[in-house]
Amino acid sequence: MTDPISLNPHIVVLPPYNAGMSIGAARRASGHQSIARLASNENPDGCSPAVLEALAPTGLEPWRYSDPACMVLREALSEHLATHPDHIVVGNGSEEMIAALSRALLLPGDHVATVAPSFGLHEIEPRAMGATVVKIPMTSDLAFDLPAILDALSRRPKLLMLSSPWNPVGPALSHDALDAILKCISRETVLVFDEAYFEYADEAARVDGVALLAATDIRYVVLRTFSKAYGLAGLRVGYAVCSDIQVADAIRKAKTPFNVNVAAQTAALAALGDQAWMKASVARTRAERGRVALALQDMGYAPAVSQTNFLFFACHSDSTDIADRLLKEGVIVKPWREDGYQNFLRITIGHPDENDRLLLALRSLTISKV
Ligand SMILES: Cc1ncc(COP(=O)(O)O)c(C=O)c1O
Repeated sequence: MTDPISLNPHIVVLPPYNAGMSIGAARRASGHQSIARLASNENPDGCSPAVLEALAPTGLEPWRYSDPACMVLREALSEHLATHPDHIVVGNGSEEMIAALSRALLLPGDHVATVAPSFGLHEIEPRAMGATVVKIPMTSDLAFDLPAILDALSRRPKLLMLSSPWNPVGPALSHDALDAILKCISRETVLVFDEAYFEYADEAARVDGVALLAATDIRYVVLRTFSKAYGLAGLRVGYAVCSDIQVADAIRKAKTPFNVNVAAQTAALAALGDQAWMKASVARTRAERGRVALALQDMGYAPAVSQTNFLFFACHSDSTDIADRLLKEGVIVKPWREDGYQNFLRITIGHPDENDRLLLALRSLTISKV
C-alpha cells in the first residue's frame, strides 16, 4: 500500500484519452502480422520524400536545443497563411496548443462549450483547468446543431471549442453557420476553431478559418496540424493562429519552452514546402472516402457526411464488440466511447487494400448478424 497523496482533483476525475491501439498490440491480440491501422486518422501515404531528405543525418544537429520560437517555421507559415508570424504559436502537435490555450485562458469555474461527440482533448484540457464543459449533442442526422450552439453562446462561455471539419463526426461548418456564430459571439468568448482536417475538406465546402476570422473583430484561436494531410503524426507539429498578440503571447508563455524538437521543425518546413505531395495524397484519400462511404451504404450503414480522412457511423450494436471482432481480422478501428455514442464506429480511410480488408470483414460480421 502506498501512502495517500493529495492529487489535483480536476485531474483525478478526468476521463482517459481514447488513443488508438498500436500495431504491436494489435498483432499480439489478433495473431495477424499484417495490420490495417484505421483508428488514428493517420495518413496512409506516409509523408513527402522532401521530409525524409531534410531529416538526413547531415541536416540535423540533435545535440543543440531547438529554436523555442520556431522562427523559421513561423515565417514560412506566415507566408503560407498570409498572417503575421507574431500571431502564430507552434506546438508539439496541436494537442499541446489545446493544453496551452486552456492553461492560458481558463480559471477554475469558467464555462466552456463544445459539441458531442467531441475530440477528447476539447473536454479534457479545459476540465484539467477546473472549467465546466457543456456539450451540445449533434442532430439526429449527424450534423452540427446550430440553434443549440447559438443558444450556448448566449450564455457567454469563456471558450467555444469546435473542430471543423468535425472529429469524430466528419462534416464541416458551412459559411452560413460560421457567419451565424460570428454574429452571436461576444468578446468574452474565445472561439477555438480546430481545423486539424482542413486540407481534406472539398474546396467548395471549405471554410478557411484563418482567412475568414482575420477579417472579424472576435477573439479566436485557429488550430492546424502537420499530423494529418502532411503525414507527420509521429513527429508532433501543430500550430495556433491567434486573433491578437495578447492571446498568442499568453499561449507562448503557457507552452513548454523547447516544445518542438529540431527534427520536427525541419520536417514541418519541408512538408509545408511540398504542397504538391500533400494535395496528391489528399486527392487519393478523398476518392477512397467516397468509395468506402458508398460501400458502407450498400451494407445498410449511414455514415455522416465527411470532409475528413475518416467516416463515422452507427453500427446498431455496441461498437466495442464490433471493433474487437474486426481486430481478430487484423483491422484496428475506433469504437466511440463517449456517453450516448457507444454504438458509433470511426474508421480512418487507409489505402485501397486496407479499406477493402475492412469492408470485407465488416460485411462478414453484418451477414453473420442477419
Ligand atoms: C480535431 C483534432 N484536433 C487536434 C488533434 C491533435 O492533433 P496533433 O497530432 O496535431 O496533436 C486531433 C488529432 O486527432 C484532432 O482530431
